[in-house]
Amino acid sequence: MGRPEGSAAGGAPLLLASALLSLSLFSTGVRGLPQPLPRVFLSFEDLQASESFEHFSISEKAMDYRILQMDEDQDRMYVGCKDHVLSMDINNITLGALKVFWPASPSKIEECQLAGKDPTHGCGNFIRVVQPYNRTHLFMCGSGAYSPVCVYVNRGRRPEEQVFHLDSRTESGKGRCSFNPQVNTASVMINQELFSGMYIDFMGTDAAIFRSLTKRNAVRTDQHNSKWLSEPIFIDAHLIPDGTDPNDAKLYFFFRERLTDNSGNTKNIHTMVARVCPSDIGGQRSLVNKWTTFLKARMVCSVLEDDGTETHFDELENVFLLEADQPKALLVFGVFTSTSSVFKGSAVCVYNMADILTVFNGPFAHREGPNFQWAAFQGRIPYPRPGTCPGGAFTPDIHTTKEFPDDVVTFVRNHPVMFNPIYPAGRRPLVVRTNADYKYTSVAVDQVAAADGNYQVLFLGTDKGTVQKVIVLPSNRSLHQDLILEELEVFKDQAPVTNLRISSKKQQLYVSSEFGVSQVSLHRCDAYGSACADCCLARDPYCAWDGLSCSRFYPTGKRYGETGFGGVIQHL
Ligand SMILES: *[C@@H]1O[C@H](CO)[C@@H](O)[C@H](O)[C@H]1NC(C)=O
Ligand SMILES: *[C@@H]1O[C@H](CO)[C@@H](O)[C@H](O)[C@H]1NC(C)=O
Ligand SMILES: *[C@@H]1O[C@H](CO)[C@@H](O)[C@H](O)[C@H]1NC(C)=O
Repeated sequence: MGRPEGSAAGGAPLLLASALLSLSLFSTGVRGLPQPLPRVFLSFEDLQASESFEHFSISEKAMDYRILQMDEDQDRMYVGCKDHVLSMDINNITLGALKVFWPASPSKIEECQLAGKDPTHGCGNFIRVVQPYNRTHLFMCGSGAYSPVCVYVNRGRRPEEQVFHLDSRTESGKGRCSFNPQVNTASVMINQELFSGMYIDFMGTDAAIFRSLTKRNAVRTDQHNSKWLSEPIFIDAHLIPDGTDPNDAKLYFFFRERLTDNSGNTKNIHTMVARVCPSDIGGQRSLVNKWTTFLKARMVCSVLEDDGTETHFDELENVFLLEADQPKALLVFGVFTSTSSVFKGSAVCVYNMADILTVFNGPFAHREGPNFQWAAFQGRIPYPRPGTCPGGAFTPDIHTTKEFPDDVVTFVRNHPVMFNPIYPAGRRPLVVRTNADYKYTSVAVDQVAAADGNYQVLFLGTDKGTVQKVIVLPSNRSLHQDLILEELEVFKDQAPVTNLRISSKKQQLYVSSEFGVSQVSLHRCDAYGSACADCCLARDPYCAWDGLSCSRFYPTGKRYGETGFGGVIQHL
């Protein structure tokens, strides 16, 4: 039982691939990588014929399915698309999906069209915020034909009730959802307060991280201050604990932004992560109704070549958080692309939460003036350290941000950027693709206890409507080696994957594109054939030869807990 250990299990295709990999690294570096092939490719027709696949769409038309909100406790997934919200059963998304039709008002659609906006891709109600509100209701916002609106949706106490309907008058979605559906909105609901990263105006020039739907005052980022936000594209937002005191938990926004250099000419895109304390109510004398705990840092995903050059993947596309028993052990996976004129590609980098915290606890960036270089701030840092949450482990005597001394607030206003960038674990990407006919758009990760240890299995959505299942093999070269176990054509239209969600509990993956939502099992062990060799050489950590067939492997007894997870990350 089990799979053979070590590299011998790779078989001929793997050996060939690794030979090519080392060859190309010596010749042309990361830009000359060959396009690796999946060991198994399943077309849309293959998947439809299998028992491990479902597909759902409201109509043949492109409806821009994008927002996937999981509720594993209730076995539901809520889906936001154009003019509709869906409630799906995560056991089988085609069985009894419930649907709410929520279009923009006719007068707004008319205004939108008169304003010259694209009638099919702009003047609908594109649902971009779907958040749990209380035990019975969800809170949702849509672009409302360039006039964002929000509403409460009753989904009942339990899924058996089959309740799913709009349950309030619509209210303004300004500060909650971008006007332009092509411009991402990233949102999180915390204790019935909504935090959104979006553009707050019709013209799309005023970007903000905004707290609304609150009994307290609304709070935002400093307006039109490019030190805080510079043409950001928001990707995702998550509340992440910091230590054991819940008051120290911080809300992280992941985004890319466009930076202007000193001459104002070339514009670079960088990926950043910003954080605020959810309890922040703004300053007393300065930064009134603005975040007084806002800090941000750059996230780097790059390859250091043997000749000393550094190839950057600067544009964050998607984020996945892999939880761990300790908050500090949490892992942040990011999919990045590079779109320089000479070079196209994508990469996956993984960051240790501990490294992210180290950067936020490190030096602040400072420069004497617009024409000076950035340096580490050397002066006195006020107390409490800027970025600390009130009422947390370090500030028991300060109850709200209005009690912060003036010098703390002034410091945050002038020094919101950390000096050190955040580097990925091992200072190199987990996966790099160049010269491929696709780019990655999204990532979800599963921890798998296999017969020969623990693995992190990456599910990577592509811009050609497929999902790749990838494992990363430990290596001490400048690049990791990875193995594409499967490539699944989960959409027949080759439309880019817009989002991915995973349920380890159900062993299912959920994938969205413009055209619908697909559900696919994390494994198809029997597809590897009925011989021991086929099963073992597949190297799929989900599968093992049980003496009769290739089947899902579950570790017995305590082994799962004993070894602890970490997979390749611990070898870095
Ligand atoms: C989902 O439900 C359909 C309709 O009953 C059924 O044909 C299909 O096998 C189910 N799929 C799964 C994965 O259970
Ligand atoms: C949830 O919120 C909605 C909207 O405010 C409200 O109508 C409903 O009564 C609330 N439900 C519970 C269980 O508190
Ligand atoms: C990794 O490094 C060790 C020690 O430096 C070396 O013996 C081994 O061959 C290297 N492995 C690879 C795959 O380069």
